[in-house]
Amino acid sequence: MDKKRILLIGATGTIGSYLADRLKTRHELILASKRRSPVQVDITSSDSIRGMYEQLGRLDAVIITAGNAYFGDFRSMKEEDFYVGIRSKMMGQINTVMLGRDHLNPGGSFTVTTGILADDPIRQGLGLSMVNGALHAFVQAAAIELAAGIRINAVCPGLVEPSRDKYGPYFAGHFPVPMEKVYYGYLKSLEGARSGEIIRIYS
Ligand SMILES: NC(=O)c1ccc[n+]([C@@H]2O[C@H](COP(=O)([O-])OP(=O)(O)OC[C@H]3O[C@@H](n4cnc5c(N)ncnc54)[C@H](OP(=O)(O)O)[C@@H]3O)[C@@H](O)[C@H]2O)c1
Repeated sequence: MDKKRILLIGATGTIGSYLADRLKTRHELILASKRRSPVQVDITSSDSIRGMYEQLGRLDAVIITAGNAYFGDFRSMKEEDFYVGIRSKMMGQINTVMLGRDHLNPGGSFTVTTGILADDPIRQGLGLSMVNGALHAFVQAAAIELAAGIRINAVCPGLVEPSRDKYGPYFAGHFPVPMEKVYYGYLKSLEGARSGEIIRIYS
């Protein structure tokens, strides 16, 4: 496997920091996140994403493990609450792909992160379920349009083991997924051949 130049956005997070540790022995990594990484980017701002790409030069792959959404009571949920996830997790990742297309080398890849709530909803999780489902549709549609052999996939993890204490109480009956398995999902997207795949890691 050739060494790739990879931009990892969300590199300080639970999933991103694990990926950074594992991928650094195989590839050249550029670590990015909102505040705590060498490269700082706010994926809710197109200007910020554009500025980041301009300073980085050509890339072989972009992996995004960032983006949040409203989590809370359905009965009191307001229109503005939907836009939290639309602006951050959904359009943040979509804009990172759209603005990154011309910065990827031929044969490059994008990997976005979604989550089990697209298929298996929980109470209070509507904001996340909705944007995860939208991202799945985006990935499948974008895969047939991207030029120069550029691929795109979504890694769709269940609740990951390190998040069990924090989020487990909301995920009744969900078996926490080992990070090793989640890592292999990203590796498949990065080094494999498929495009438009939703790589579900649920157990
Ligand atoms: N944890 C889970 O069990 C789980 C399961 C399935 C799916 N997911 C999804 O996976 C993604 C990552 O989850 P996580 O638990 O690893 O998150 P996390 O631990 O909260 O980390 C979030 C990461 O995203 C960065 N970030 C936050 N807002 C950003 C912005 N506007 N622009 C750029 N970077 C931003 C943070 O950067 P700074 O540290 O610099 O602020 C940090 O690196 C989320 O979309 C989540 O929904 C998580």
